Amino acid sequence: MANVAVVGAQWGDEGKGKIVDWLSERADVIVRFQGGHNAGHTLVIDGEVYKLSLLPSGILRPGKLSVIGNGVVLDPWALVAEIGRLCERGVEVSAENLAIAENVPLILPLHQDLDRIREQAAGRAAIGTTGRGIGPAYEDKVGRRSVRLGDLSDDATLESRLDRLLAHHDALRRGLGAAPIDRADLAERLREIAPQVLPYARPVWEDLDARRRAGERILFEGAQGALLDVDFGTYPFVTSSNTLAGMASTGTGMGPGAIQFVLGIVKAYTTRVGAGPFPTELDDEIGRHLAQVGHEKGTVTGRDRRCGWFDAALVRQTCTTSGVRGIALTKLDVLDGLDELKICTGYEIDGRRVDHLPMAAEQQTRVVPIYETIAGWSESTAGARSWADLPGEAVKYVRRIEELIRCPVALLSTSPEREDTILVTDPFAD
Ligand code: IMP
Repeated sequence: MANVAVVGAQWGDEGKGKIVDWLSERADVIVRFQGGHNAGHTLVIDGEVYKLSLLPSGILRPGKLSVIGNGVVLDPWALVAEIGRLCERGVEVSAENLAIAENVPLILPLHQDLDRIREQAAGRAAIGTTGRGIGPAYEDKVGRRSVRLGDLSDDATLESRLDRLLAHHDALRRGLGAAPIDRADLAERLREIAPQVLPYARPVWEDLDARRRAGERILFEGAQGALLDVDFGTYPFVTSSNTLAGMASTGTGMGPGAIQFVLGIVKAYTTRVGAGPFPTELDDEIGRHLAQVGHEKGTVTGRDRRCGWFDAALVRQTCTTSGVRGIALTKLDVLDGLDELKICTGYEIDGRRVDHLPMAAEQQTRVVPIYETIAGWSESTAGARSWADLPGEAVKYVRRIEELIRCPVALLSTSPEREDTILVTDPFAD
């Protein structure tokens, strides 16, 4: 039986929430392995809309174990608030159905301060982060000065972690003209929150291994998208974690062999929130049409998403770097009614054709997309549940995407409703 990793194959917001929910019903364990509460996964269950930022989507389904792996950065206050919001709506969250890696690094208020101060100071060069402190928290992780969840259980350890962390941050803040950290207040807040989060702390790598040996199905739930990956994304306009499927292994403590199927979530056009290169961006009526019909507003920050044509060169690249075996194509219905559609197949730069986005940031802003034009369709594809329900042109569009990205469609999603899904390959059964 296969374990499945689900990752975004563009700049995030590909519609992972619905697909993860659809798969989580058939999984036993659902694991987040990177990112933090910068994610925004929207799920519609029995007509109720839930927006999750930090908790794995499995939390909404009774009888599943949800796990937050060590690859995540965890804001304990955001966690407690999200749990509180769910409990108010009758969703049960306890140590029975939620486990958090004891070695997960914490996001503290000082990380959010730094995120904000830096973005403000950067002016036009700002990355457009979600302001959640994600980048600064990951910096402290690799800088070996994080406070980790398990550190909250021992006062002496916590104090020595704070020594190291504040020596760094106070120096940084002096340089930025910010007030030093109020250490006593921070320590007090951490002691207060500790009893609310420590009950979930566990060596989750061991739990996951036991579950795998027992033949349970594990779903690894990626956040953001491959083009925001800190190594392979449009650096420096990226998030600070590895968003590729490889992170599912080191971000949980399961060996790479534990993941048999990588499902890439791909939107039928392209969107991006925040700053950075976007070769197929449409600053015209069609771009505004996609934004309006596709409700392209950020779940976490409420910002408008930038919209553009499907970029097959980029998705071919991300399917390769994430080892995607099949894609889930989402929001095809947003293209209904357009006379013709364009697909980017590569780029031109300085008179040369290239079939992938160059690594150099300066070149990324200068590439000119090479488009192929395809006929659109006037009929509605919304709610289609079989290929026969789709207009011929829509099928041609999907088939052309498969050819260009060199990866087959495993699932096709035709509306936010979970039943409106065409299943070609069952990732768990493969
Ligand atoms: P950060 O992750 O808050 O540091 O933001 C870095 C970049 O990643 C910004 O361009 C954000 O808009 C983008 N980003 C972070 N999380 C998401 C997400 O879940 N969906 C889409 N974009 C995201």
